[in-house]
Amino acid sequence: MERINLQGIRHSVSREALLGHESAWKVSDLGLVQFKHDYDPQLLETIRRKAIALKEERAFQKHLNLTFITGADRFIPEINELIHDRARLDRLSAFAGTRLEPYPLSVVGSTVTFMSPTDGNVDWHCDGVPVTELIPLSISDPIIGGELEVFLGGCEPGKARVDRGEELDPSELLRVKHMVGHSTLGHFIGVLHRTKPLEYGERITLVLNLRSVERPFVDDNRMFYLAADNDHDQAWVQEMAEDVWANQLPAYRSAGRESVPAE
Ligand SMILES: [Fe+2]
Repeated sequence: MERINLQGIRHSVSREALLGHESAWKVSDLGLVQFKHDYDPQLLETIRRKAIALKEERAFQKHLNLTFITGADRFIPEINELIHDRARLDRLSAFAGTRLEPYPLSVVGSTVTFMSPTDGNVDWHCDGVPVTELIPLSISDPIIGGELEVFLGGCEPGKARVDRGEELDPSELLRVKHMVGHSTLGHFIGVLHRTKPLEYGERITLVLNLRSVERPFVDDNRMFYLAADNDHDQAWVQEMAEDVWANQLPAYRSAGRESVPAE
């Protein structure tokens, strides 16, 4: 593994610190890291402009109070440059402490999200994908709300509380402000988080999903949930099945049994 470039880190939190306990269903001990990225500003601007042009036709608000383009690299091919950027994958893998690879499902690999008082903001949820990089493409100035909020505790007890309408106390949350030029890499499988509702302003974000090369089976994307995001397209079902046979099952069989949760 290459040496970690620690320059430009604004936040770095372990998974255990987020959850308040150890976990077994994980790809590494990464919680989240926010860092200054070095991605080509022209490339990000092209992606932003194309996303805005596609918004009317391709962005949907299906659930979780979020307006987004799923499988955005299918419509904005420039996103593929970032998805497969070797230097980027090396750096993210170093942050994670394990080799990461692009998430393979075409409908889930990349997303562009639009957040504003009218477009919504993503409600409390725990991710299906193991690891996510959030790259802000634009953030209005001023903006009120829009921070990433992570519940400092387990997903299940936290989600049960918000589901019955309880407000989580700010003392139980880690709040991270997004900044253009800074990415946030989160290992949010089993970690409860949301975007703080936007009262004013807007943010457009490129979301690139990743998984572990060694443990590709660590994945909570459930089929009904993928269907909720992608009910206009069913090809992903076959893609997913092929990935299970070709990648997930061999990795699971060769993984140390003691490191795999109960069967
Ligand atoms: Fe999320």
